[in-house]
Amino acid sequence: MNEQKNEKTDTGESDDAPILLEKIIYNLAKKWIAGSNRDEAILNAKKANNEGLNVILNFLGEEYTDKKTIDSTVSEYSSLLNLMNDNKIMGSISIKPTQVGLKMDYENCLKNLLKISNIAKSFNRFMWIDIESYSFVEDTLTMYLEIFKKNNNTGVVIQSYLKRSMSDVMHLVESGANIRLVKGAYEGNESIAYTSNSEKTSNFEKLMGYIFEHTKNQEIIAVATHDSTLIEKAIQIDREYRSIGKKKNLEFQFLKGIRDSLKKSMVNEGYVVCEYMPYGQKWLPYSIRRIKERKRNLLLLGRSLFGN
Ligand code: FDA
Repeated sequence: MNEQKNEKTDTGESDDAPILLEKIIYNLAKKWIAGSNRDEAILNAKKANNEGLNVILNFLGEEYTDKKTIDSTVSEYSSLLNLMNDNKIMGSISIKPTQVGLKMDYENCLKNLLKISNIAKSFNRFMWIDIESYSFVEDTLTMYLEIFKKNNNTGVVIQSYLKRSMSDVMHLVESGANIRLVKGAYEGNESIAYTSNSEKTSNFEKLMGYIFEHTKNQEIIAVATHDSTLIEKAIQIDREYRSIGKKKNLEFQFLKGIRDSLKKSMVNEGYVVCEYMPYGQKWLPYSIRRIKERKRNLLLLGRSLFGN
């Protein structure tokens, strides 16, 4: 499961409780994770490819502040890209800026992302840049535009929970950027963020409408949500543009382990469907975000902890 060991506490007693809690969370979370190393991730990617899904592979880890871990994460993405190429995997990679240094040093993070994007480019692969909590948004978008100038096989995420996102989208669209639209897995106070699901959904619709209207044909519009209403809305807008001869480069993106039957039926209907597959040992923060975003997952966790 994890690399963490069962260590003794200061009192000399074995501190089993956090390990037990982690085990319980892992049981709930394992369906969202594509294995603990890149070989397992590649096997899962092949399975998904065989079902008609493109994959987006992410090596788990975030908010690193130690150079050794950051460097080894950069090497991991390099090895992953080589392995994806060797195994003819249909798909891309997705990186969190803070796993390659954003919390420590902007310039080094930019250098690392550029390095990985050059390797991706050499394999003719696409690289997404994930967006994390609010304090990293400005730097991530600035970095993305730097990278995009040199390598247009890259895309970035926009979160509909943020009030700034419409102005970011306008700027990105003007630059010809590839955009993945999400609701946002983080929280913010009312001065910067929409806090209710209905506001996030309504802003998602507005942003999506703007992106469809203003992007040309080649830029990727990635609608990354499990929300049926938004997916149906995207399908409807896409049809309208097709009917006037303006076919957009639309794809639907889902997380591994969520809404699997919908993915399947959308593949059967001919849509481009991608599955975001995180792998690695650092599965806990990612899994906690997944648990928090759905009441049922919290209830399942509660039941496992307190035995029904
Ligand atoms: P919402 O949370 O309203 O869910 C709609 C429906 O989907 C639910 O009613 C339920 O049926 C199902 N569902 C949703 N979550 C579920 C879960 N955990 N378990 C079971 N069912 C669930 N965020 C971010 O801040 N930065 C990023 O870079 C990314 N990247 C990213 C890539 C991809 C491919 C996806 C799909 C999502 C992200 N996200 C993200 C996460 C995103 O912001 C958001 O937190 C989740 O997608 C959940 O929001 P929904 O839009 O799915 O709607």
